[in-house]
Amino acid sequence: MKALVVRNLRKGYGNFLALKGINLEVEEGEVFALLGPNGAGKTTLIRILAEGLRYDSGEVLVFGKPLSKETARLIGYVPQESIAYDILTVRENLGFYADLYDAPRGRIDELIEEFGLPANKKAKELSGGQRKKLNLAIALLHEPRTLILDEPSNGLDVPARRELWEIIRRFRREGKTVIIATHYMEEAEKLADRVAIINEGKVIAVGTVDELKRLVGEGSVVHIEGELRIEGLPEGVGVLSENPLRLKVEDPRRELPGIIEALVRAGSEIRLVKVEEPTLEDVFVKLTGRGLE
Ligand SMILES: Nc1ncnc2c1ncn2[C@@H]1O[C@H](COP(=O)(O)OP(=O)(O)OP(=O)(O)O)[C@@H](O)[C@H]1O
Ligand SMILES: [Mg+2]
Repeated sequence: MKALVVRNLRKGYGNFLALKGINLEVEEGEVFALLGPNGAGKTTLIRILAEGLRYDSGEVLVFGKPLSKETARLIGYVPQESIAYDILTVRENLGFYADLYDAPRGRIDELIEEFGLPANKKAKELSGGQRKKLNLAIALLHEPRTLILDEPSNGLDVPARRELWEIIRRFRREGKTVIIATHYMEEAEKLADRVAIINEGKVIAVGTVDELKRLVGEGSVVHIEGELRIEGLPEGVGVLSENPLRLKVEDPRRELPGIIEALVRAGSEIRLVKVEEPTLEDVFVKLTGRGLE
């Protein structure tokens, strides 16, 4: 079952086209990342899915159905900015949104407990990580099948980010679908089953992180340090530099043993071996000629 199908989606603000014909399919149960730089159109796309923002043309299907009040109930949305009311407590915020979404009141305590939230603290007194968890709890009140998060880890410190990623993984283990927008390559790399790279209102590549990295087409680089005698390297290994030794290889898992063996046989003393995989940033640069930031 497809959690989401987007066909030829176009959206302009005045005469500026923010989405220029987006095509996407998200499978139920996967974590899907929309990765792209500022202004790529990620939030615009998400607001169409989650907030009913109007679009100009194209088609959007959520679990096979066109966007409607019914499909809205299948989606939980965590916007980039907090939607909690500062002067209300955690419990009051959850109560307010539970009424708004017509969610069972019993969910409030479940979520407070699940996320370890301080029920009686005012939202304005929460740390950034707690505030994000409160927003996540609000999005999960009505038990959606799909969770959509816009730049979820922006502004969070490393522990809070890890905790958030763990919650997202847990949600996925329950068979739910997660869509995240991010310009943070590590977030896409660590979390996503598949990634769509978005630039200037278009999807320019989609695939698993490994599939996308293969687009760079350069394999990996093996970096070796030590007292090296470079002789008899296996065929197909390209020497990029000798000191430090950097070798271009197709598949390090296959080629590394032969490389080490040749160096050792030639009398080398090896101190350090590192495999440098291409990053999604490299993929983006390759496709667009510029960086993600
Ligand atoms: N309400 C609006 N009115 C006019 N232009 C807008 C509006 N919202 C977004 N845009 C423009 O549409 C383009 C896409 O914006 P969008 O917010 O979707 O990008 P984004 O990928 O979410 O970027 P970011 O990573 O900065 O959040 C940008 O050029 C932006 O300036
Ligand atoms: Mg955005």
